[in-house]
Amino acid sequence: MKKKVFVFSIICSCSFAQQKIAPTGLVTSKAMVVSARAEASKIGSEIMKKGGNAFDAMVATELALAVAYPFAGNIGGGGFMVYRKSNGEVGSLDYREKAPLAATKKMFLDKDGNVVTGKSTETALAIGVPGTIAGVFAVHEKLGSLPMSEILKPVIALAETGVIVTQKQQKQLEIYHDAIVKVNGPKTLMAGKFKENDIIKYPALASTLKRILTNGKDEFYKGETAKILVNYLQKKGGIMSLEDLANYEAKWRKPLQFDYKDLKITSMAPPSSGGICLAQIMKMIEPFNLADMGHNSEQSIQVIVEAERRAYADRSQFLGDPDFVKIPIKALTSDSYLSSRMSNFNIDKACLSSEIREGKITYNESMETTHYSIVDSQGNAVAATTTINDGFGSKYYCDELGFFLNNEMDDFSAKPGSPNMFGLVGNEANSIAPGKRMLSSMTPTIVEKNGKLFMVVGSPGGSTIITSVLQAILNVYEYNLSMQEAVNAPRFHHQWLPDLITFEPDAFDNITIGNLKAKGYLINERTTPVIGKLDCILVLPDNSLEGGADFRGDDKAAGF
Ligand code: GLY
Repeated sequence: MKKKVFVFSIICSCSFAQQKIAPTGLVTSKAMVVSARAEASKIGSEIMKKGGNAFDAMVATELALAVAYPFAGNIGGGGFMVYRKSNGEVGSLDYREKAPLAATKKMFLDKDGNVVTGKSTETALAIGVPGTIAGVFAVHEKLGSLPMSEILKPVIALAETGVIVTQKQQKQLEIYHDAIVKVNGPKTLMAGKFKENDIIKYPALASTLKRILTNGKDEFYKGETAKILVNYLQKKGGIMSLEDLANYEAKWRKPLQFDYKDLKITSMAPPSSGGICLAQIMKMIEPFNLADMGHNSEQSIQVIVEAERRAYADRSQFLGDPDFVKIPIKALTSDSYLSSRMSNFNIDKACLSSEIREGKITYNESMETTHYSIVDSQGNAVAATTTINDGFGSKYYCDELGFFLNNEMDDFSAKPGSPNMFGLVGNEANSIAPGKRMLSSMTPTIVEKNGKLFMVVGSPGGSTIITSVLQAILNVYEYNLSMQEAVNAPRFHHQWLPDLITFEPDAFDNITIGNLKAKGYLINERTTPVIGKLDCILVLPDNSLEGGADFRGDDKAAGF
C-alpha cells in the first residue's frame, strides 16, 4: 500500500495548487525587517522609514545586532549577504572570516596527529580574521543611499543607552558565564550577573563604532581598533597580526541559483555550503509530491532525509573556499547526477550513511549565528546571515573594544574525517591554510516565483541551517503554511554523519517515529535541541509582507 502511495506521488509531481493562506505573522504594506532582536528590527525598519533602502537597513540591522545580540550578532565575526534588487538583479557578498597568515594545516593536532579537544573552539587560536565591518562598508559603498552617519546614529545610541536583558538572554549569559570568565577574568563586562529586565550599556562598543564612523573601515583594519585588537589577542596567545587585518577584504561573489518547480532560488555559493546543499536537496526531492505525502509525514520525512544524507556526504568531500580549491559546482548540481544519487532510494527501508559515500564527480574537483531578512518599499530584498560561530563565539571579549571574537577556525576540517562542533566531517577541500576561508553552512536565500520576489529566508544553527531553510521554503510552497506557521512548524534534520535523524523535542508523533525506526532509520533519542531559528519574509499576493519571526528566540518582525 505504501509503495503505491510512493509511485503515485512520483507520477503526480506537479506542484500542489497554491491555496490562498491567511497570514498569521506581522503583516505590513511596504517594508519589513525580521531579526533576532526587536531593537535591531526596529532600527532597520526606521532607517527605511527615513528613506533608506534595504541595503542601508542591512548595515543598520547588522550593527544593531552586534549591540543588542552579542550572543551571535557581531563585529568580531563575519557573514554572507544575498540580495535581489527590485529590478531582479541578484548578487552576494562574502564577508566570511579568514584564517590568519600564521595558521597552519595541523595547528589543532597534537604530535601524534590527533585533534586536541577545544583548541579550535576555546583558545585564541580559534579566532578567524573578522569580516563584518568590511562587509557593511562594501554593501554601503555599492548599494547604500543614506550617509553612514545617519545609519550608525541609532546603533551608537543603542549601545550608549543600553539594551534590556530578556529572559532568554539571561539564560544564555548564565549558561556561558563560567566559560566567559575563564578566558577574560571576572571583571569583564559580560561576566556580570545580569537578570531579566536589567539594562546592559555598551560604552566601549559605542566608542569603537564612533571611531569607525569617523575613520571608516580602515579604523577596524588598520587604525587604533586594529592595534588594540591585535595587542589583546597576542596577550591571549592568538596569532592574528596587523597584516592579517590590513589584508582583509570582503568579496562580491556570484550567487548560486537554481530552479525548483516554478520557483527560482538564489542562495550563497562557496565558501558557504548552503546554496549547493540546498540546491542538491531540493533537486533530489523535486520529483516527489511532498504535498500529497503530507507535512512532516513519515514519507515526506524519508524523502527529505535521504536527500539530505546524500547532499551532506558530498559537502564533506567536495566543498571549501573556492579561492583555494576547485569545486565541481556544475556537476554537483546537475539533474542527471542528482537523479542518479536518489536511484537507490527505497520507501520501505532506510539507507544507512555507511552505505552512502560522496558521489562520483569528475573534476575538470550550540550552534550559533544569526540571520535577518529585509524587504524595502521599492521591493529590494536582503537575506544576511552573520556569525561568531558558537554562542558568544570564542568567549574572548575585548573589553577595551566592547565585542566578542569568533571561533570560526573550528569550521575548517582540522583533520580529515574528524567532526567539528556541529558533528560535521570534512576533508582536504576544507583543510586549514593561511588566508583561506573556512567552509560555512550559512544559507541566506531569496526565492522568486513567476519572476517576482516571493520569500526571503535564513537561519542560524550550524549544520542545521541548510535543513531549516529548506523546511521554511517547503512549508510555504508545498504544504501551504503561512510564513509564521512555516517558521513555527517543528523541524527535523539529518546530515549524513552522524547517521541520525534529529527531531525537535515533543513535536513529532510517536507513531511516525516508530514507523521510521521500523524501516531502519536511526533516531537521535537524546534530548534534542531546537533546530534553526528562522527569520523570514513572505510577499503576499497583494504585495504586502508577512514576517515569520521565530518564537524559539526573542526574534521579532518590524515594519510599516
Ligand atoms: N559558523 C557556522 C557556519 O558558518 O556554518
